[in-house]
Amino acid sequence: MIIAIDGPAASGKGTLARRIAQKFGLTYLDTGSLYRAVAASLLAAGGNPADEAAAAAAARDVVPGSIDEATLRRDDIGQAASVVAAQPAVRQALLDTQRRIARTGSGAVLDGRDIGTVVCPDADVKLFVQAEPEVRAERRYRELSERGQTANYDNVLRDLRERDARDRERAQAPLKPADDAHLLDTSKLDIEAAFRAAVDIIERHNET
Ligand code: DC
Repeated sequence: MIIAIDGPAASGKGTLARRIAQKFGLTYLDTGSLYRAVAASLLAAGGNPADEAAAAAAARDVVPGSIDEATLRRDDIGQAASVVAAQPAVRQALLDTQRRIARTGSGAVLDGRDIGTVVCPDADVKLFVQAEPEVRAERRYRELSERGQTANYDNVLRDLRERDARDRERAQAPLKPADDAHLLDTSKLDIEAAFRAAVDIIERHNET
C-alpha cells in the first residue's frame, strides 16, 4: 500500500505521515528532508540555491540521512529547499530515489508537495492536508520557541506565505491536491483528531 500525503509547510502532514506509517507497518519517507538536504549541502559548500547546475549536482550526490536533523529543520534551510525545489533538474534527480523507497517492502507513506500528482500518481490513498496560514504560523512559532530559538510570529507568517507562494506557483510539480485526493483541513483539529480522520479515510479505502 502506498499512501501519499501532500500539503503546505506546517500543515501537520509530517507528524500525521509518521504516525500513519507506524500504525499500518509501512516505511516512512519525508521527501521534504531530501530537498532540505540538497539545500543544506549546497549552502555548506558556499553555493547559491538559485544556481540550477550546482543544485542539480548536489541533488545527484545527496545521501538521505547524512545531515543532522537540527540543521535540516532550520528555517533558512526550509526557504532554500523551496528555492532548489523549483528547479526541474533537482526534482528529476530526486525522483527515482523517492519512487524506489515508495516500492520497498509492503509499501510506504510519503509526505511532500507532489507525491499524489507526480511521484506516486497511482498511490492507493492520497491525502491533502491543509490549514489556515495563521494556524500554521502559530504552530511553527510554538515549535521554534520550544526548541529555544528566538522567533517572531509576524516573520514566521511572512516566511510561510512566501514559501507557500513559491511552492504553489512554480511551473514544475507545484503544490496542489491531486484530483482524487481527500482534503483534510487541520485548522480546527489537534493531532489526535487529525490522525483519527486520516485513519478513517484509509480504513474506508481498505474496505472497498
Ligand atoms: O515539507 P518541508 O517543509 O520539509 O519541505 C521543504 C521544501 O521542499 C518545500 O518548501 C518545498 C520542497 N518540497 C517539494 O518541492 N516537494 C516535495 N515533495 C517535498 C518538499
